[in-house]
Amino acid sequence: MKAEVVQETGNPTGHGRPEDWPKYIKDQDWSKYTSEEHDVWKTLFARQSKIVKGRACQEYLDGVAALEMDQNQIPNFNEASKILKAKTGWEVVAVEGLIPDLPFFQLLAERKFPAGDFIRKPDQLDYIQEPDVFHDFFGHVPLLANPVFADYMEAYGKGGLKACQHGTITNLARLYWYTVEFGLIKQDDGMRIYGAGILSSPGETKFAVESDSPNRIGFDLKRIMQTNYRVDDFQQSYFVIDSFDQLFKETYADFSKLYEEIKADKTEYAPEDIAEGDTVLTRGSQEYTQSKA
Ligand code: PHE
Ligand code: FE
Repeated sequence: MKAEVVQETGNPTGHGRPEDWPKYIKDQDWSKYTSEEHDVWKTLFARQSKIVKGRACQEYLDGVAALEMDQNQIPNFNEASKILKAKTGWEVVAVEGLIPDLPFFQLLAERKFPAGDFIRKPDQLDYIQEPDVFHDFFGHVPLLANPVFADYMEAYGKGGLKACQHGTITNLARLYWYTVEFGLIKQDDGMRIYGAGILSSPGETKFAVESDSPNRIGFDLKRIMQTNYRVDDFQQSYFVIDSFDQLFKETYADFSKLYEEIKADKTEYAPEDIAEGDTVLTRGSQEYTQSKA
């Protein structure tokens, strides 16, 4: 899943039009899955649910329980949506793969989470190009049952439509990357994960909380929007929030002024950089990345 470029400007499908979202969604048609496909889910689910215990944040684990996921079968989006709708008003809709930015933002703004409905092949358990149902559902959907995170995701969608007008989708996409996909959260019992890109990857789940290699830096909105990210391997830096309330509060205000500042000062950080003013929780050795060079 390393190569998942979430709605970035490099998205080959372009920006699209917000109102075209219905063109990109489809019926999941749950009966189409073969028993081999359900078995892939079962293998991934069994392996990953062990690994996320003690590493995922409490809100995520609560969401997993609330969704009553069947470990033996690919989830049925309609059934999950009934549970989610009652809790936070969110639903899960099926898409073919990555969709253009603006329909994607519009879907989030309407509390519809677009999830790939296909599943990786048995020989791709650890690596896929495009987000499949395991990444999208196991990784993303549980937190949508949390009221604060649910509000954040809707606000992000609305913010995306605005960012397009400012020409800053790339900057906003970095916020998505370093929170929704690769976010860490400091909880009473230690460093925990809430990012879906981590939670759907066995290797990165351990790496993100236990390795000495990556930097762990306190959440800083502007800094994140100026930071490039890697799509080909484990992250070299993670940004850490104290709570979902903090995340929501720090992103709630209008970004217009911030966007103008960012466009004016043009600072860009590399994925491994430590910047002046960073709250460094752990300074990474970057040993992992160097060992691969
Ligand atoms: N407050 C942001 C804006 O004005 C919108 C936003 C909210 C973006 C939450 C991301 C997350 O553009
Ligand atoms: Fe994702």
